[in-house]
Amino acid sequence: NPSNLQMEENSGLSRVNCRAKGGSPGFKVAILGAAGGIGQPLAMLMKMNPLVSVLHLYDVVNTPGVTADISHMDTGAVVRGFLGQQQLGDALTGMDLVIIPAGVPRKPGMTRDDLFNINAGIVRTLCEGIAKCCPKAIVNLISNPVNSTVPIAAEVFKKAGSYDPRRLLGVTMLDVVRANTFAAEVLGLDPRAVDVPVVGGHAGVTILPLLSQAKPSCSFTPKEVDDLTDRIQNGGTEVVEAKAGAGSATLSMAYAAVKFADACLRALRGDAGVVECAYVASEVTELPFFASKVRIGRTGIEEIYALGPLNEYERVGLEKAKKELAASIQKGVAFVRK
Ligand code: NAI
Repeated sequence: NPSNLQMEENSGLSRVNCRAKGGSPGFKVAILGAAGGIGQPLAMLMKMNPLVSVLHLYDVVNTPGVTADISHMDTGAVVRGFLGQQQLGDALTGMDLVIIPAGVPRKPGMTRDDLFNINAGIVRTLCEGIAKCCPKAIVNLISNPVNSTVPIAAEVFKKAGSYDPRRLLGVTMLDVVRANTFAAEVLGLDPRAVDVPVVGGHAGVTILPLLSQAKPSCSFTPKEVDDLTDRIQNGGTEVVEAKAGAGSATLSMAYAAVKFADACLRALRGDAGVVECAYVASEVTELPFFASKVRIGRTGIEEIYALGPLNEYERVGLEKAKKELAASIQKGVAFVRK
């Protein structure tokens, strides 16, 4: 009976509206690559986030199952699934925040740059969709190599005439999460009490932990600095090797992605003093993109902080990081311009 169907649809809709109205002002969030190793736990954690009112899960495979599963969680966010490129537009329309963990991960022996050929094209397609359907959304880009995919996204948005550097953030939060954890281990502290800024980029030597600026203020021996820097720079590889072919960090990455997305949503809500490390368009160095501490507000990035005082060890590390970063940025830009 068509009129019954109509009624059901209407009542469903009004229930959704009630839910959306009931809680605190919520944001609409899309996850692109939502059925993947990062995407699934990320979707689960975002469904638990009280700042999210609508959660769109997009992938080229398996979103019906993931969406059905997640939608049974008795939390506020309304979940909708989108499958395949013809549904990308619907997945993106009206979104405040788009999180992108789409693309292939590393296997043992691979660098993040080895992923470039596949992931560059995926990121380009997804960003073309964002430029068309939600050009004002904040974008959290996770797909590797982040050092190149963020410049790719910027070029795509420039081509489309929608580029706003304040709204494009490469997610380097996992490096900060690892730095806090590993430093806390050495210091014998609760990791929640430790804050280590990590600047530069998100691959090997471009990951530059500023241990001299760790909080609470502390001192490490030269050997501790060396070991910690090495472990933070190669934390991803530690996981890739332990997983032995089954992928790279997914659970800690989903945690880090949610920590970062939550900061973005609090900033969009108007909270003051939201400061996190991210890989962004920057004038902190001579490079066009660089990760450092940024203050996020209602319009996206509102302030990018200078690196602060570096010791000799960090100055040497910075020069190495910049050299590799410059090449990765150039590679990303060339991919779109060619
Ligand atoms: P995965 O292979 O488990 O999942 C990737 C998902 O992307 C799959 O479900 C796949 O179907 C989907 N996908 C592929 N092409 C797509 C397209 N055109 N549109 C939408 N979705 C598409 O990989 P995992 O482990 O979830 O990693 C995802 C990405 O995140 C990788 O590039 C990985 O290197 C990166 N990563 C980044 C980190 C960071 O700190 N920024 C840390 C860990 C991983």
